Amino acid sequence: MTIGKNKRHDSSPTHVNGKSIFVDDRPTLQNEIYVQVVGAQCAKGKLQSIDASEALETKGVLGVLTANDFKNNIWGTIVKEQPLLCSDQILYYDEPICLVVAENESIARSAAKLIKVSIKEEEPTFDIQKAIDQKNFCYVATPFLVGDPDSQIAKATHTLKGSFYCGGQEHFYMESQACIAYPMERGQIEVHASSQHPSETQHLVASALGLNYHQVTCVVKRMGGGFGGKESQAAPVAAYAALAAQKFGRPCRIAWDKDEDMAITGKRHPFLNFYEVAFNDEGKILGAKFDLYADVGAYTDLSPSILERAMFHIDGAYYFPDIEVKGTCVKTNTHSNTAFRGFGGPQGTMTIESIIEDIAYTLKKDAFEIRKVNIYQGEDQKTPYEQKVENNQLPKLFNLIETETKYNERRNAINQFNAKRNGKVRGLSVSAVKFGIAFTAKFLNQGNALVNLHLDGTAQVSTGATEMGQGVNSKIAQIVSHALGIDYDDVIVMPTSTEKNHNTSPTAASSGSDINGAAALAACNKIKKRLSILAKKHFLGETFDDVKEIDADTEVEGYKEIIFKDGIVSDLKLKKEIKLKELIGMAYMNRVSLGDYAHFKTDGLGFDKKTGKGKAFNYFTNGVALTEVEIDEYTGELKILTSKIHMDLGRPLNPGIDKGQVTGAFIQGAGWVTTENLFYSPQGKLLSHSPTTYKIPSIQDMPRDFEVNLIENLDLTVNVYGSKAVGEPPFLLGQSVWMAAKNALAYRANKMPQITSPATNEVILMELERVKG
Ligand code: MTE
Ligand code: HPA
Ligand code: MOS
Repeated sequence: MTIGKNKRHDSSPTHVNGKSIFVDDRPTLQNEIYVQVVGAQCAKGKLQSIDASEALETKGVLGVLTANDFKNNIWGTIVKEQPLLCSDQILYYDEPICLVVAENESIARSAAKLIKVSIKEEEPTFDIQKAIDQKNFCYVATPFLVGDPDSQIAKATHTLKGSFYCGGQEHFYMESQACIAYPMERGQIEVHASSQHPSETQHLVASALGLNYHQVTCVVKRMGGGFGGKESQAAPVAAYAALAAQKFGRPCRIAWDKDEDMAITGKRHPFLNFYEVAFNDEGKILGAKFDLYADVGAYTDLSPSILERAMFHIDGAYYFPDIEVKGTCVKTNTHSNTAFRGFGGPQGTMTIESIIEDIAYTLKKDAFEIRKVNIYQGEDQKTPYEQKVENNQLPKLFNLIETETKYNERRNAINQFNAKRNGKVRGLSVSAVKFGIAFTAKFLNQGNALVNLHLDGTAQVSTGATEMGQGVNSKIAQIVSHALGIDYDDVIVMPTSTEKNHNTSPTAASSGSDINGAAALAACNKIKKRLSILAKKHFLGETFDDVKEIDADTEVEGYKEIIFKDGIVSDLKLKKEIKLKELIGMAYMNRVSLGDYAHFKTDGLGFDKKTGKGKAFNYFTNGVALTEVEIDEYTGELKILTSKIHMDLGRPLNPGIDKGQVTGAFIQGAGWVTTENLFYSPQGKLLSHSPTTYKIPSIQDMPRDFEVNLIENLDLTVNVYGSKAVGEPPFLLGQSVWMAAKNALAYRANKMPQITSPATNEVILMELERVKG
């Protein structure tokens, strides 16, 4: 039994002894070369010329490649509009213009500095409001509309109208974008990439180089973090290495340093959201209108889907009887913003959670009271896109956090502390999450798996899932070892490769183990069914004919009576057993296949993009967090005193790994809303381009008292082994830190506190000054 157990992380032994292989750890081949990107030194303009003469004279430089060297220079996950290298229009600072290929990295890097690019500069737009005014839109979503929010707003006792801005976020994965491309026979290319989406990387390399898909293989052993930043944007990096490998017929490496990676790649989307909400004296929300604007940067990338996920999460954990939600993608002249843990969801929920704090301030009530009257109750209430909120754990979670943290006592203690006016002010807040699990693009909710059972009773499994630290390999190994009744250590998850698993979806939307785990289970079940037929015959003393191929849905007589456990295969009815290894040997000798492949698709999804209604998600992951903070009124310094989290992960596949995910996601979410701030020069150059200028949370930013709990929920039936996805949902709970800071400000305010996100120490200090009146 390995499901639900704390099996070690697949990478932990090698992470600890330093033997984990990342792309740039692959040994250098004798004839290997390096490719360096040269970026634009302005945010908008027309490319006039590239003078590479000096670079080309440098010893060890093999060539300089430009847009014309690609067979097809255009890419884009949703809209094919982004050049791999600029040939004409430049749309953001540091946008790739050309490639210097050299014998090694240091020559390539120094030669890149000798390239002279001339650009006729144009007036860039950085400000989202200005871009909205210019109607610089690349996507307008179909609005959601339920009931009649206008009339609710017209007749309500209380309304609030305003806008909410939240900033971007750098992924800050430890391993920057990297790839090595190996030229093979007959024009084939094998790329080893740090990519969440090997299939997209394969497809882009092929199209960019004028190859067929079957000539390109993409292999991903693991990533040193992805967080969404390697969902789409790993692909062009691979295309650069592949182009040089193809041109020069030599293996080619690219491995960005942190500064390059931060300047070139997209980040979380900043959003500017407008709202109007109506509520009664109790704080119950009666109607609302939202109009969301995502700052997509220079290119569309994944933005329409990200905008839509923000719209899907504008309700947070709260029920809106009458609601309208609109959304628009706006282009500006920055790096092209992309997927980042939560995928727009956090930008939606920040808005509503902040509004709830404002409702509380307006009514002079505790925001927890407002949240309690508005959370989804029961299983029948519908979301703004008319999906029922089934398996709803929110009321249970609210009760739990209230009693377990002794909410009222805590509030009283804070009231007393703050009354002392000793230069510190404390705040308290609860945030809840209801994160929808499924890709909102329905076709992505599919996966395939290959399981090989070997004669010694060990197994290898390959799926489209990529390991980025989140533990998907461990979970898939658990599923396979559980299904086959073999030891956890007797299963190895093989490197992800497009030659074993085809047309795979990105490992994203938190659904890596949902989809690939289910596919692996289906493949195991096919093997088990064949072995069961064999076992039955053996127990009954019958001879074996060849056992037919079987698919996952085939009914096999007596299959349910055969149990695979602890290396033994037993028949509950016949009360007989055989060692799995023996049965495997018997299967081989009788020409019964010991490997299988299966395809899985998530059932029951039915969101209609044209009407903005339907079942967008397979289920929701719920959670709740209470956070208490303390602000130093002289410096604005913010300390997290306490964070207590209760998470609903159904029957978690690996509670230990999942607790790690909850912890990391919460801190990453807290970082987004507090210390992580992107700064640009007036010309649009990213100034916060390294750890020296961009502040991710450190140990000092952790809650002094931090607790992560998983609640019991045995009722989910729609996902593999009753588990719920964990990767992104707890990110949204980090918002409780910001809410608590806003609550602290309210204690010192003569008017409603109105901070944006991130609430850095400076922002907090300035707001303290402003609100004290
Ligand atoms: N955890 C680690 N350690 N590193 C990561 O890059 N990415 C997150 C999350 N947890 C990430 C992580 C994101 S954005 C997603 S979508 C999920 O993991 C993807 O993996 P899963 O679907 O297997 O949970
Ligand atoms: N989440 C994450 N990544 C995605 C999605 C999604 O819903 N759709 C496409 N890529
Ligand atoms: Mo995660 S943002 O869906 O890669």
